[in-house]
Amino acid sequence: MADPTLQQLIDEVETIVAAGGTEEEITAKVAGKLTGWLAEGPAIDADYRRPDDDKYVLYPLHVDPEGRFSIASAVWNVGQSTPIHGHETWGVVGIYSGVEHEIAYAKPHSEGEQLVQVAESDWSSGDVTVCCTTDDDVHWVACGGDEPCVGVHIYGTDIGNWQRRAYDPDDGSVSWFSSKWSSWPPLSASHSG
Ligand SMILES: [Fe+2]
Repeated sequence: MADPTLQQLIDEVETIVAAGGTEEEITAKVAGKLTGWLAEGPAIDADYRRPDDDKYVLYPLHVDPEGRFSIASAVWNVGQSTPIHGHETWGVVGIYSGVEHEIAYAKPHSEGEQLVQVAESDWSSGDVTVCCTTDDDVHWVACGGDEPCVGVHIYGTDIGNWQRRAYDPDDGSVSWFSSKWSSWPPLSASHSG
């Protein structure tokens, strides 16, 4: 059974999204709620934070039925990383355990532009960052420590069914991909007897 405080977080994000506003306004409010939730020391079921030997994984904690937002548990095993990628929506990242190492890039105006690094950060347990607005959403993420990294990522769409860009660091060329959910159903929809 999902931690009851997860439902509270879902309700808070739903209220924020329903109220609308700019992506900057929405992400600021969502970041505040995610910070508060992580500070409560919530429990995430082991099945939703289990690293995979082969690749990083994205488990659904909640997917809004209308696709307005989703909450993911993103898990990197030691040594794993993403391609350089975008999100084409807003996103807020909070760290549940471990260290997420991030290199952020300016979003290219056109395909084939050389990528320009703008920040490099290590995020650890309890840290929350606005990773993305649609016009500023390009980064590379890796497990930054000697234990798996678990992040709680909240996005402005059903991120497991969303086309977004991956960038070749050598020439800036773009390929579109979808980072499919690694399991189903979402934790919020699971029930125990
Ligand atoms: Fe990302």
